[in-house]
Amino acid sequence: MRGIILSGGSATRLRPCTKVTSKQLLPVYNRPMIYYPLNTLLKAGIKEILIIVAPERAGDYLNLLGSGRKFGVKFTYEVQDKPKGLADAFIIGDNFIDEDDVVMILGDNIFEDDLSREIKNFKGGGRVFAKKVPDPERFGVVKFDKNNKATSIEEKPNRPKSNYCVTGLYIYDKRVVGIAKNLKPSNRGEIEITDINNWYLKRDELDVKLIKGEWIDAGTFNSLLRAQNFAKEKMHDKLIV
Ligand code: G1P
Repeated sequence: MRGIILSGGSATRLRPCTKVTSKQLLPVYNRPMIYYPLNTLLKAGIKEILIIVAPERAGDYLNLLGSGRKFGVKFTYEVQDKPKGLADAFIIGDNFIDEDDVVMILGDNIFEDDLSREIKNFKGGGRVFAKKVPDPERFGVVKFDKNNKATSIEEKPNRPKSNYCVTGLYIYDKRVVGIAKNLKPSNRGEIEITDINNWYLKRDELDVKLIKGEWIDAGTFNSLLRAQNFAKEKMHDKLIV
């Protein structure tokens, strides 16, 4: 299993704080934001991690994280010239993924749960993690039938069919690279990870697990503030680096 941290983008929603740095390098209490998703991968024993960054920030990431040796892992860096969508990570990561399974986590997502078991026991297809939220229209929304089986996933729907959203950690087998390469951009001009999830869902190969603990996408000022407080109160004993 290989890991990818997607840490690109220009984070215009967090201007002016992101004018001279990357969102995922902003502090979340006592660590740069990217340390939280990094912890999630390290805890799961992932040793090869591709970090995808915006070109103008590449040097900052290298200075902060280096080769990975100090964490006992190996980092590879790639630049994403333009934010083309989450699914683009698998096209950029084509050579890196090679013939392996891959777990991709967003550089601004903070998970309280230890997901190492779910990452380690992955056996093919796709696996995503859903969480009940008050504002599902901001996310990919998953609908379940009465047997708790996922039946549809919609990206930022105006009328969400449930309160369950797909969080920013995705596990796929190697087919994901080919799937990503065949996607057509959505109305917002991005290739959507939701379309990858629907590809697996249609074939009955998508496993949707619920997460129990807190989950925060720290991409807005309000969620960033929530992340700061959460990290201070609850994340201490859950971090290994
Ligand atoms: C992206 C995905 C969405 C997912 C969310 C999790 O949204 O498109 O399906 O629920 O990440 O953070 P975006 O960051 O593009 O708003």
